[in-house]
Amino acid sequence: MRILGIETSCDETSAAVVDDGRMVLSCIIASSRTAFRESGGVIPETAARRQVECMLPVLDAALQQAGCTREHIDAIAVTAGPGLLGSLLVGTVTARTLAALWRKPLVPVHHTFGHLCSTWLRDPGAEDSTPLFPMLTLSASGGHTDLWYRTGHTTGMLLGRTRDDAAGEAFDKGASMLGLPYPGGPSVSAAAERGNPLAFPFPRPLHDDPSLDFSFAGLKTALRYLLRDLEIRPEQETVPQRADIAASYQHAICAHLTDRLHRALQRYPDVREIHVVGGVSANTALRSMMCHIACGRTVRFPARLLYCTDNAAMIAAGAEFLFQERNGQSAPWETSATLSLDAFLTTGTQTH
Ligand code: KG4
Ligand code: ZN
Repeated sequence: MRILGIETSCDETSAAVVDDGRMVLSCIIASSRTAFRESGGVIPETAARRQVECMLPVLDAALQQAGCTREHIDAIAVTAGPGLLGSLLVGTVTARTLAALWRKPLVPVHHTFGHLCSTWLRDPGAEDSTPLFPMLTLSASGGHTDLWYRTGHTTGMLLGRTRDDAAGEAFDKGASMLGLPYPGGPSVSAAAERGNPLAFPFPRPLHDDPSLDFSFAGLKTALRYLLRDLEIRPEQETVPQRADIAASYQHAICAHLTDRLHRALQRYPDVREIHVVGGVSANTALRSMMCHIACGRTVRFPARLLYCTDNAAMIAAGAEFLFQERNGQSAPWETSATLSLDAFLTTGTQTH
């Protein structure tokens, strides 16, 4: 199928055309991120207003770059939630209107399910093998941190999720304490490049806890105390230890994520691949640490950095796989924006 995807759950406006859930013919993303440098975080009203302006030009560009018109599109996919309400409305109203006008099926897709499908995306002509189930998928972004054992696109079980902040949120809040710009992931990562990841000790969250859950609040507090003890304030321009602190903080976040994956691998030895998706999967330090614990298994990240962070191609892929495995059925439209991901994946009972 050729699916037109639309994604507007946070500060991005994105449209994409994807063939068979894999081949990305176009993926256009307009971001209002720079508007939030001052505030250090997204202002929902500002994001939604910007999306109203961007939606139609982004749609036009996606169709044009894919070289297709409405006749070539088989279905329309849109992020139904979770996300900022005003932002979601811009995307969903656009998608509903297009589906009605063009007489195409409309598929609401859970945002996190879209991330789970992002490792299938390829550019035309790029050769690659098809991912193999069962797999472990770590989905880490600014809004969630989930670890899944998956036996199919829509089947599997949730092994663990964060008990407090998301991994991306830990990067964003840490960056703000360090006086680095939003979004925090790329800026902490850039600051960490010249730093020593072992310069400052950080706690190991949930170290003695047998669950596969995550927790990042303690790392954030440890950073706050470290900065207080070193008398470093965010507005300070010259901070000689900034690179070492950023590297140590980044290392602590990545070590926690990797530690959970490592434990999960020991409990589920039949796993054939490890997938890491979501905005945090763009992190270079995390990528190399994940490859170290894989014990020879294939480790996949989204093929382009563009597909790690929010994008419409993953939503189109999600719709394709919902069609394949559930005949296009996700949860009822009215409830899908608030439902947890469990509504989209058949969850089993945890065996540990
Ligand atoms: O998936 P995403 O675009 O949006 C959500 O669904 O939340 O993820 C955004 C998050 C932000 O918290 C951002 O700081 C983080 O992903 N991020 C990174 C990197 N690039 C983006 N975190 C660590 N390292 C990066 N290179
Ligand atoms: Zn996301």
